[in-house]
Amino acid sequence: MQNNLHTQLTKVTKNDREKLLNQNAQLIWFTGLSGSGKSTLAIVLEKKLFDKGFKTYLLDGDNVRQGLNKDLSFDDTGRIENIRRIGEVANLMLEAGTIVLSAFISPFASDRELVKQTVGEAAFMEIFVDCPLEECEQRDVKGLYQKAREGAIKNFTGIDSPYEKPSHPDLIIKTDELSLEESLDLLLKQVLPRISKK
Ligand code: ADX
Repeated sequence: MQNNLHTQLTKVTKNDREKLLNQNAQLIWFTGLSGSGKSTLAIVLEKKLFDKGFKTYLLDGDNVRQGLNKDLSFDDTGRIENIRRIGEVANLMLEAGTIVLSAFISPFASDRELVKQTVGEAAFMEIFVDCPLEECEQRDVKGLYQKAREGAIKNFTGIDSPYEKPSHPDLIIKTDELSLEESLDLLLKQVLPRISKK
């Protein structure tokens, strides 16, 4: 091998772990603007799945960026590396048989595609949390849009950094039109068949 690394084969496989946990590991990938509702939806969905007995873990942008990825910026290079690492972490968790939910802006289509390739298409679901910029900016839950408009924050998604909408998401949730309950219903309809063992 060129890099002197050899993949070790373990005696317990992903399949074994999924059987033990009685679930199909999946990565439920939320993408959308800051303030669109990704974290809110991921949090309620995780709670619902957990209460139904699924083994879940939620990776959230604001949290991961304070730990594992605290060395990364919000310029393009930083965002690309942020999503690449999350893809690798999610992949490990999927190998462990877990239902992984993730809430990152993940503004670049090529990075989301890379995650999909990393974990495998069958284990990846893309949820586009679709909320108009004007609405996110009006909500401005964290006060960051105002700071970005004032120039106090650079490279802010939607203001001076791009967001590439998914072209074929598994599900679109319009958080400015639906209630949280309606959104959760849509999510469960999409997710439950994928994660439940027959
Ligand atoms: S991503 O673009 O690299 O996927 P990520 O989801 O990890 O972003 O982090 C987004 C969160 O970081 C936002 O919800 C916001 O609270 C905070 N943040 C700080 N600076 C920025 C910025 N320049 N652009 C977007 N979000 C920012």
